[in-house]
Amino acid sequence: MNKLEEIEKRRTFGIISHPDAGKTTLTEKLLLFGGAIQSAGAVKNNKIKKSATSDFMEIEKQRGISVATSVMAFNYSNKQINILDTPGHKDFAEDTFRTLTAVDSVILVVDVANGVEAQTERLMEVCRMRKTPVIIFVNKMDRDGKESFDLLDELEEKLEINVRPLTWPIGMGDRFKGIYNLFDSNLNLFQANKTGISEDIVSIENLDNPQLNEMVGEAAADELREEVEMINGVYDPFDREAYLAGDVAPVFFGSAMNNFGVKEMLDTFCRISPSPRGRETDLKTIEPEDNKFSGFVFKIHANLDPKHRDRIAFLRIVSGTFQRNTFYNHVRLGKKMKFPNPTSFMAQDKSVIDEAFPGDVIGLYDSGNFKIGDTLNEGEKFVFKGIPSFSPEIFMELENLEPMKGKQLDKGIRQLMDEGVAQLFIQQPGNRKIIGTVGQLQFEVINYRLEHEYGAKCQFVPKNYFKACWITSNNEEQLTAFKRAKANYIARDKDENLVFLAETPFLLTMAEQDYPEITFHKTSEFKLEEETLRT
Ligand code: G4P
Repeated sequence: MNKLEEIEKRRTFGIISHPDAGKTTLTEKLLLFGGAIQSAGAVKNNKIKKSATSDFMEIEKQRGISVATSVMAFNYSNKQINILDTPGHKDFAEDTFRTLTAVDSVILVVDVANGVEAQTERLMEVCRMRKTPVIIFVNKMDRDGKESFDLLDELEEKLEINVRPLTWPIGMGDRFKGIYNLFDSNLNLFQANKTGISEDIVSIENLDNPQLNEMVGEAAADELREEVEMINGVYDPFDREAYLAGDVAPVFFGSAMNNFGVKEMLDTFCRISPSPRGRETDLKTIEPEDNKFSGFVFKIHANLDPKHRDRIAFLRIVSGTFQRNTFYNHVRLGKKMKFPNPTSFMAQDKSVIDEAFPGDVIGLYDSGNFKIGDTLNEGEKFVFKGIPSFSPEIFMELENLEPMKGKQLDKGIRQLMDEGVAQLFIQQPGNRKIIGTVGQLQFEVINYRLEHEYGAKCQFVPKNYFKACWITSNNEEQLTAFKRAKANYIARDKDENLVFLAETPFLLTMAEQDYPEITFHKTSEFKLEEETLRT
């Protein structure tokens, strides 16, 4: 197979949802179809309990299992499918946002009873920002929920995207009879506790066919005819280009738990979803077909074996062909590196690979060279954009409980920050360490891991900050004046950039008004933003 064919057959996507909508169950069913797992239950444990209480075993278990299940690759219908798992827990939202930089499309799971939930909206915002093509799977049709047309309206309104149903449910809850595939004009009848696999699908080209009445009953058949007519009247025909541009989201209905409506979605996904796409760098757009290899690190995972400090860096390949044992350029460090044991994630079986193609995600063993967002390529000096740090929402000062172990603590903190667990801001005077996260759970993770992996004990003292803003200015005088006036609220991030820790929205607005020549950036990607504006 030539390189272009290799690229064309890859489909790299993420499944996202508000917790409990059914992401794990759906992922599992997709893996079953792909033969990547033999029985249900294998992915199930990859979840932190919903209560955000301390359960260290759970955190450990999550870390252990998520190496294996962060990326799941399998072959289906002549395609190589790469599913990137995202943590559902809101405290790990930043991890999810970063993972979304490595996918080419997304399947968004929505619970038919709950509709669009808080996390669904936030995730969709990120997809909209990146113009990521989205497919929506409305789950739990075996339960009573919102009326389908109302739900479609809610999706359009709250997710700010046009929708186009491609399958349609016949009833729901106790009256759920099955789904009609609008795309292929066939019918799949639902029987509880039975999987809706292909043999059950009946082709109904023409809905006037009296066979439909026999199959679902006259009332349900008439209702379906009416609704399909309405769909065709209200919604434009499905436009693949609009989907690929992120303007229209096709909608599927089903029940992941009953494995119903899943195959219809997967088959359609294989036909319409995008093959690997290019990515922006600070210099130019890199396309998958480009000859030279390039890729970026979007996730770093500590190795589970405490005797080894190795970590696994997850690299998304953007262009060219990655070869084992070949020297590549680590752009940030300006250093040549080669990788003797790159791993693939085929069928959960981590095995060493010799080469990998655009769209693939590979695991690189790393002893501390990588940070999230790092670019690897064949020597050019460009870096991939789009992996910024966002302002954290919770801030705590880190206090060392064992002053003799300051070194271990520093090393541990540095490594955890490289992994993207949280963000560190150093405040002068006194070199105070302020840790910022998006959720409470990260502090427990940090505390636990510092103690167990680095033998360092610490405690956290809450700080009353509302936002961290990266600040820049061309007016040195004003910047100096600001730094002097706000000395207690100025810190430096891991790359020595200046950060203003604002206590309230009001104080931030005041600062913006009083110092008009200082720019307060909401994400750490301001350097690239500024360069883009200049060019
Ligand atoms: P998540 O990863 O998005 O958090 O959701 P997950 O798949 O774990 O599903 C959340 C709950 O919803 C689970 O129940 C799961 O069994 C159930 N569920 C998933 N799909 C369907 C469906 O199509 N129909 C119905 N009725 N339920 C569904 P749980 O009680 O939390 O867990 P479990 O005891 O079933 O493991």
